[in-house]
Amino acid sequence: MSDLKLGDIAPDFTADTSEGKISFHEFLGDSWGILFSHPADYTPVCTTELGAAANYAEEFKKRDVKVLALSVDGVKSHKDWIKDINETQNTTVNFPIIADEDKKVSDLYGMIHPKADNTLTVRSVFVIAPDKSIKMTLTYPASTGRNFEELLRVIDSLQLTVYNKVATPANWKHGDDVVISPSVSNEEADKMFPKGYKTVKPYLRTTAQPELKK
Ligand code: BEZ
Repeated sequence: MSDLKLGDIAPDFTADTSEGKISFHEFLGDSWGILFSHPADYTPVCTTELGAAANYAEEFKKRDVKVLALSVDGVKSHKDWIKDINETQNTTVNFPIIADEDKKVSDLYGMIHPKADNTLTVRSVFVIAPDKSIKMTLTYPASTGRNFEELLRVIDSLQLTVYNKVATPANWKHGDDVVISPSVSNEEADKMFPKGYKTVKPYLRTTAQPELKK
């Protein structure tokens, strides 16, 4: 089983999808990416998750995130299932779903956890930065649908903290105060955060969320 870690380069692959053949790195281009796996087509939780991902299309676009899903069924099955997703979730699926029948991509990304299920993928998520490094991984069991608000929240945090020397505290959401990275001295912080910051403890300094840099 693959053992991808944060900071690793997301392995490249070619795959058949519901929207034709893609080459992963070429598909991502200079954008951020989210790759997420689904146990199987025509399953209830997956149907709601893919509908949710489609309904958040504008939010992903605002953040320049390309969306790519995966399920271990074939292209014909995906295309037929998408009609059901669109109908039942009141949406239009507008991103490709990988048809990973030979489990090539699932194995490459360690999406099959044999002790959970020998053949179906678990609910994995990989968030990938424009330099193709893996910035976040998440694994949910098949029985628990993912929270897409949380995925957007993590992407907001990543896009902020990659370009600024800050980190985001528990339950942070876009617009809330952030914390200053411990590696920043008070002298540096005075210059970096001209609007000021609050020292709760020497190691816990909070400041207003900086503007997003791209
Ligand atoms: C579902 O997507 O509903 C599902 C898939 C596999 C196992 C359990 C639930």
